[in-house]
Amino acid sequence: MPRGDKEVVVSDSEPGKVEPQQGGEKMPSPAPSKKIFMEDPSEYRPELKDMLIGKDQEEFRGFYNEDNERYDIVAETYSQMHSKQTVEFVKHMHEKWTKLTHFKMTIMEAVEKLDELVDESDPDIALPNSIHAFQTAERIREAHPDKDWFHLVGLIHDLGKVIALHGEPQWATVGDTFPVGCQFSNKCVFPEYFDNNPDRSHPVYRTQYGMYEPNCGLEKVQMSFGHDEYMYHVLVGNGTSLPVEGLYMIRYHSFYPWHTGNDYDYLCNEKDRSMLEWIREFNKFDLYSKADSIPDVESVKPYYQSLIDKYIPGVLSW
Ligand SMILES: [Fe+2]
Ligand SMILES: [Fe+2]
Repeated sequence: MPRGDKEVVVSDSEPGKVEPQQGGEKMPSPAPSKKIFMEDPSEYRPELKDMLIGKDQEEFRGFYNEDNERYDIVAETYSQMHSKQTVEFVKHMHEKWTKLTHFKMTIMEAVEKLDELVDESDPDIALPNSIHAFQTAERIREAHPDKDWFHLVGLIHDLGKVIALHGEPQWATVGDTFPVGCQFSNKCVFPEYFDNNPDRSHPVYRTQYGMYEPNCGLEKVQMSFGHDEYMYHVLVGNGTSLPVEGLYMIRYHSFYPWHTGNDYDYLCNEKDRSMLEWIREFNKFDLYSKADSIPDVESVKPYYQSLIDKYIPGVLSW
């Protein structure tokens, strides 16, 4: 895998050019197959650095070295993200993506589609991205055998990354998320890059609560746009029966300044707080499953298909 391909290479599809479905017309099929090199910079966890280094020095030491090429990619992604994810931008992305008018596919097709995203962070291993989905799911299944919905959440939590196959840049697809329309937190990674965000000089958005009421609840809070928020809308928009805990895990799994940094409690209500432990429980499996053995995907697929049939069946609108 060429390490030089830092940038996300967009697909042949023209972003923003897909017209809403009308009069029963068929939606365009998913973007043509094309490999996209990207890295989810949420793996960069300075707050957990000591813990990670203690756990597996060889594997993680290089990652935190500023001379390392990965560090540059991560820093560049956050530089773009923190300067361009504004209230205006998030509104635009909701308009564009949450109407689910872009393409149709099943959950299992989306899992396979993930393999067109090549994780640049593993240049030597070059595992298909769907392996992370199955690894996360299988580890959850081992630890929580009685919660089948939780297993499915493990499998599908990153499926929102398919927007990268339709031209969205890395900084609008992956990485830690944060609320827009209020003061940016120093608990976000690379907080200094917020200096270039025009919302920082907005008279309302620059204040602690910004456009929100104290403890209004995260449901009323606009998060920076990425695969978490998009997948939440795909699930709800297609009428999933996954429990609320599962939907929270998917929607906020990259909201590190909250679930790991312990910030933003002033925007949360009791429901959000009651979900926090679930998100943290999920996060363990998401972060640490990558070093695990590779599951035999073909043998576990029928089990996951049965969960899809139970909680989010059929062909979905995306
Ligand atoms: Fe993710
Ligand atoms: Fe993940």
